[in-house]
Amino acid sequence: MDADLLDAVRDALAYAYAPYSGFPVAAALRAANGKIYTGVNVENASYPEGVCAETSAISAMVTDGERSIVEIAVAGSGDDILTPCGGCRQRLREFARAEVAVHACGPEGWRQSFVLGDLLPNAFTPAHLK
Ligand code: THU
Repeated sequence: MDADLLDAVRDALAYAYAPYSGFPVAAALRAANGKIYTGVNVENASYPEGVCAETSAISAMVTDGERSIVEIAVAGSGDDILTPCGGCRQRLREFARAEVAVHACGPEGWRQSFVLGDLLPNAFTPAHLK
C-alpha cells in the first residue's frame, strides 16, 4: 500500500475516542476523487451508541459528496490483525467493489492485505434492489 494511505490511517489513530474498550481504531478510505477520508471509533457512555472507525470515515466521505471507495486501510492498536467488523464490511461494500483492497495496519505500519470480496463473499449490494 502507498505511504499516503498508511500515514493517514496511522495519524488518525491518535484521535480515536475509545475510553470504554481501550481499543482505538482508525480507518482511511481512498476515494475515486483522489481524496483520503479518515475516521476513528467514537464510543459513548451508552455503549451501543458507539460507532466504528470505518463508519466514521464513510460518513466523512459521503458528506463530502463522494460515494466511491477504491482502497481501504484500517489500523488497530493491538497485536492482532484487525479487519473490519461484519457490519462495517457491509457498510464498506455499499461504496466499494468486491475487488477493493483492505489493508490491515498497526501503529508500526502495514501488516496484511485482504480483498473486500473475500471478507464479505456473495454480498448483498445495492444491485439487488434494482
Ligand atoms: N471497532 C472499529 O472501530 N472497527 C472495527 O472494524 C472493529 C471494532 C471498534 C468498535 C469499538 O469502539 C472497539 O473497536 C472495540 O470493539
